[in-house]
Amino acid sequence: MTDAMSPDNGFVVGHEEASLLEGRVAIVSGGGSALDEGVGNGKATAVLLAREGAKVMVVDRRLAAAEATVASIVAEGGDAFAFEGDVTEEATCGAMVAAALERWGSVSVLVNNVGIGSRGSVVEESVESWDRVMRVNVRSMMLTSKFAVPAMAANEPPGGAIVNISSISALRPRNLTAYSTSKGAVIALTKAMAVDHASQGIRVNCVAPGPVYTPMVYAAGMSDEARDLRRNSSLLKIEGSPWDIGNAVAFLASNRARYLTGQVLVVDGGVTLRGPDRDPGNGS
Ligand SMILES: NC(=O)c1ccc[n+]([C@@H]2O[C@H](COP(=O)([O-])OP(=O)(O)OC[C@H]3O[C@@H](n4cnc5c(N)ncnc54)[C@H](O)[C@@H]3O)[C@@H](O)[C@H]2O)c1
Repeated sequence: MTDAMSPDNGFVVGHEEASLLEGRVAIVSGGGSALDEGVGNGKATAVLLAREGAKVMVVDRRLAAAEATVASIVAEGGDAFAFEGDVTEEATCGAMVAAALERWGSVSVLVNNVGIGSRGSVVEESVESWDRVMRVNVRSMMLTSKFAVPAMAANEPPGGAIVNISSISALRPRNLTAYSTSKGAVIALTKAMAVDHASQGIRVNCVAPGPVYTPMVYAAGMSDEARDLRRNSSLLKIEGSPWDIGNAVAFLASNRARYLTGQVLVVDGGVTLRGPDRDPGNGS
């Protein structure tokens, strides 16, 4: 092998890796699904990280949902366990990291996937709902990271990867004002953490999904028409699947993304790029 083709020179990273995440310990928040039989972004991510060789701690406030994900992973020969808890609670987040350390001795990947929706403008929004969205979507990510970062810094060599789940609603708001604001904060949090923890070998990136067909979306009911609208809102004319999000997360969590930190990976089939169907003809 010539020097130019050496995996050590940074160009051919992962050339001889059997799996992207072999031996890593990952924590995925909201790793269950809102509906037991469904697959959300967190569940797809947990399964894909396990397929890449990671041991996965599936955290969810609904134990049955976390256990369903663990069962899927174990059925495929992977290693996972379920942790019940609300990640807006500081004590839960501390206990979550402690449990992963006790079981597997390290933590090297954290996926902050928990998030809830909201509708309406600031005029329509209630203070209670605003606070709840900020608490679940932003505070939870601060708290899980508060405990995961020291664990990653204690790795030998120090390091890890954190992937936060934002949304294209942060980039292209559409009457989901509290949600959009919280997801914008997730992007700022990602960049701030990337700066703060680079010296500890920790990369922090963010995935901004477009419309993805998950239980969070269809639990409330979605017509075929609405689904068509979602498909047509993308350049590729397809609707996102939770596996699209999981694949993006697995990449960012792996060494293949070793030169990426503080970035927002938009996974939306081109929804945010799509302009009017017809060229307005004035070059604008
Ligand atoms: N589905 C989409 O179209 C879409 C688009 C953009 C971004 N996202 C983001 O993707 C992430 C996951 O969304 P999803 O659609 O897969 O959701 P989902 O509702 O299917 O799954 C979320 C899981 O998180 C759990 N959870 C919620 N609050 C929790 C808490 N406080 N503590 C612990 N667990 C908790 C739920 O029990 C559920 O199992 C969210 O951050 C969401 O904002 C989704």
